[in-house]
Amino acid sequence: MGEPVNANWQGFWTDLPHEQGLAVWDSSPAVTATAQLPLFEQHFAVDLPVLDVGCGNGTQSAALRGHYARVIGLDFAPAAIEHATSIQAGSGVEFRTFDLADTAAAERLHTELGDTNVYMRGVLHQMPDERRADAALSLRTLLGASGHLFAVELAPAAGETIKDAIDQGPDSVPKMRQVFKHNLTPAAWVDGKLRQVLTGAGLVILDSGAVTLEGTDFLPNGDRLDLPMTYVVARAEG
Ligand SMILES: C[S@@+](CC[C@H](N)C(=O)[O-])C[C@H]1O[C@@H](n2cnc3c(N)ncnc32)[C@H](O)[C@@H]1O
Repeated sequence: MGEPVNANWQGFWTDLPHEQGLAVWDSSPAVTATAQLPLFEQHFAVDLPVLDVGCGNGTQSAALRGHYARVIGLDFAPAAIEHATSIQAGSGVEFRTFDLADTAAAERLHTELGDTNVYMRGVLHQMPDERRADAALSLRTLLGASGHLFAVELAPAAGETIKDAIDQGPDSVPKMRQVFKHNLTPAAWVDGKLRQVLTGAGLVILDSGAVTLEGTDFLPNGDRLDLPMTYVVARAEG
């Protein structure tokens, strides 16, 4: 299942021009990573590298670099890494291909970097269920004993909001339509699954709550597409 979903993402990023704000989730950091810093900065030791896992075009990675000395953006779609390296050239972020569901690759990265803090936005909610357990094991490996995870994912209820938006007509939410064109599956899970996947890999949830994704897409009446998200802060069991 890893290869088809990777191919879907590769197709999505290949079709998109190298410009910020074209993906439906590509919101300004002022309402995203920077605004949400108070939710996780007290947990992120500043001397650890920060990994932005599933970084896409690197918008949030570049914002994190404003606060942390070493930020590495990781994505399994080479086309996403091409976006990030061209759009975020000069940001000081290093971008690499990496599949979170590849537990051996996570071990290698941990051997190279030691413990890391992980920022992850919008990755597990769309992942095929059979890959999530390995993805969570990789997260645990990357954190090691001292790292912390900030994960922010579409809430299951976002699925209904997306469906309502699409049903408003062919001109409604054009950027969200691009996601479905590439067979991607936003919000494909149920309440409690984020917590279950992470605790199943031996992570302890320290904090959780709700935030809103201020999308870059619009309904026919001009309203912005906003979607409910759930965040957690977690670390490995002691
Ligand atoms: C919804 S986008 C979010 C991008 C970015 N985090 C942001 O907030 O702008 C999800 C990203 O996760 C990447 N992705 C999905 N599954 C992945 C995996 N198993 N390993 C690494 N990246 C993955 C996709 O290629 C895509 O760029």
